[in-house]
Amino acid sequence: MTNRKVGIVGAGFVGATAAYSMAMLGTCKEIVLYDIDTDLAIGKAIDIGQSTAYSPQGTIVTPAKDASYLQGCDIVVITAGVPRKGDMTRADLLNINAKIMKDVVNNIMKYSPDAIIVCVSNPLDIMTYVIHKMTNWKRERIIGMAGALDGARMSYEISQKVGYGAGQINAMLIGDHGQHMIPLPEISTVGGIPLGNLISKNDMADIIEKTKSGGASIVKRLGTSAYYAPGRAISVMVKAILDDTHIVVPSCVMLDGEYGYKDITVGVPIVLGKNGLHKIVELQLDKETKQKFKISVDSIQEGIDILKKEGFFEI
Ligand code: LAC
Repeated sequence: MTNRKVGIVGAGFVGATAAYSMAMLGTCKEIVLYDIDTDLAIGKAIDIGQSTAYSPQGTIVTPAKDASYLQGCDIVVITAGVPRKGDMTRADLLNINAKIMKDVVNNIMKYSPDAIIVCVSNPLDIMTYVIHKMTNWKRERIIGMAGALDGARMSYEISQKVGYGAGQINAMLIGDHGQHMIPLPEISTVGGIPLGNLISKNDMADIIEKTKSGGASIVKRLGTSAYYAPGRAISVMVKAILDDTHIVVPSCVMLDGEYGYKDITVGVPIVLGKNGLHKIVELQLDKETKQKFKISVDSIQEGIDILKKEGFFEI
């Protein structure tokens, strides 16, 4: 990837923190920050650009005055969308964000037709599905960022429990980025040691619960979604794609028979590289986990069906 140019659509806390993380680490050569609120995008891009003055990597942070600035991106990260407010139903939120996705995706198809898309907008699994259907691109090129973040939250809970190992924890989970996600502590490791050797079943159950409510517990305190861990998780995925590192990371991808499902986007472990999805890793799930995975898939399908009923996918 010669340009090493990354577009970020949505300059809210998550998009801007992703940009900051990439700029500090020198993950890419250029970041374009775009938002329909042009002043927000410009203000934050200038601020982040100024923060690179002391970073030797020389990442350029370009404020986008309009969508045409997204021209020629290797990767576009989508964080745009509205959070659910008081009187909104789930269907309302779905419809609003799916509509936002339509404009965003049309711009990406116009200005960066060869890009890989990393979707971060919520409800994550459903928005990732929407992007697949709108673009009709090869499934390798559209990936939802959820497992990288939920895995980071799970690693945090594991290190809190074990008391050491931060930075050496491999946490695995599958399923949706929501209440039916399935953390898998039994196959997670600390410095290569399976968690079962280190903590009790009760502690594992506690880690599962805290991981599942990890995002919500921050929203409850801040009144807005988390952004440092999401921003960092995005920069990890961007690096894996730009540098073709083939890391294994749970991500939301379109299944085509894997895990026994087709035409559904859900979190599973994948190998991530320059073309996006390089390979899906199929875990051997026991009966109980298969059942949980089905509940998770069904919950995503329910959201997709709401949009179908509204005629969203009809052109
Ligand atoms: C969260 C949002 C970023 O889980 O999806 O915090």
